[in-house]
Amino acid sequence: MKVAVVGATGMVGGVMLKVLEERGFPVDVLLPVASEGRGRTVRFRGQDVPVIGMEAAIAQRPDLALFSAGGGTSLEWAPRFAEVGCTVIDNSSAWRMQADKKLVVPEINGDVLRAEDRIIANPNCSTIQLVLTLAPLHKAYTVERVIVSTYQSVTGTGMKAVSQLENERKGVKGDMAYPFPIDRNVIPRCDVFTDNGYTKEEMKLVNETKKILDPAIRVTATAVRVPVTGGHSEAVNVEFANDFELDAVRELLRNAPGIHLLDDPAKDEYPMPLIANGRDEVFVGRLRRDETQPRTLNLWIVADNLRKGAATNAVQIAETLLRQGLLRERVASA
Ligand SMILES: NC(=O)c1ccc[n+]([C@@H]2O[C@H](COP(=O)([O-])OP(=O)(O)OC[C@H]3O[C@@H](n4cnc5c(N)ncnc54)[C@H](OP(=O)(O)O)[C@@H]3O)[C@@H](O)[C@H]2O)c1
Repeated sequence: MKVAVVGATGMVGGVMLKVLEERGFPVDVLLPVASEGRGRTVRFRGQDVPVIGMEAAIAQRPDLALFSAGGGTSLEWAPRFAEVGCTVIDNSSAWRMQADKKLVVPEINGDVLRAEDRIIANPNCSTIQLVLTLAPLHKAYTVERVIVSTYQSVTGTGMKAVSQLENERKGVKGDMAYPFPIDRNVIPRCDVFTDNGYTKEEMKLVNETKKILDPAIRVTATAVRVPVTGGHSEAVNVEFANDFELDAVRELLRNAPGIHLLDDPAKDEYPMPLIANGRDEVFVGRLRRDETQPRTLNLWIVADNLRKGAATNAVQIAETLLRQGLLRERVASA
């Protein structure tokens, strides 16, 4: 398969290359794409592969393109790739809420994929870890309302934000990705504010959870940037229609796909970005009843936002297309 990784020189793009290699994805020809080659290369399977521009990549008619190059870039270029028979899986928010575009977490709704899906949206990093945890609980107890507070890693903003944190820790001046210092600080704003006083990130959590799981679920969110690099953390309060036994909830999560239950406070066992960093699982812990309200659970969810929150989920979508014979079929018909 001829695979383009668009944004190959970025945070997510770099992890995308690692995940493709680790999972042995059938890449015959790799096309690493960025704004311009500029003589850059990326490392893939022990080889230095030259970085190319968009037009050069399209001219090679790739079968699959994994995009992580920003929303504007995706709106402009993803249709161009689709026109040459390429399936695009996009990490930006550009296509997520469009009615005709599928928003996919393979463990939850991989079965919605169809041969005619040319541009497929990968959900927001904070949404993926939340819905992957809620899906088995929704099936068992029907989720009615979710309150989520996030503690989001600077890697979620990209290379520039990681440099800002490192510079601040070294006490040197540099480019700012945030309006304020992030080291020794937390910033209650991820992405821009919208008219209702919520940020775009908070509204992604609300709208994407409804699109993936169930439009009837009521969601409210507060998204906060914290000086961490290993992963996003979420404090979640979930109200169900039906009551639950905590042990039964633990059993459900212990056996849920993509979930790693880490819940033994007595032994100081609970999820942290230090544990999730570089791993593909979503870590869940600190399970306890909300004693102020019936049928309500508190839990804590941590995942590496560059992996299950972006690159790994996107590659899993491609694997699902392959498994369902959707990707190959298209290549044959193109
Ligand atoms: N970071 C996360 O946790 C995360 C999670 C989910 C989704 N996302 C989404 O993934 C995207 C990338 O995020 P990131 O953190 O990897 O950002 P990043 O580190 O800033 O990387 C951006 C990448 O996009 C490329 N690019 C930018 N404009 C381009 C253009 N016009 N043509 C071709 N390539 C272009 C850059 O190439 P140059 O090197 O040439 O500039 C670079 O490779 C964003 O849309 C983000 O919302 C990120």
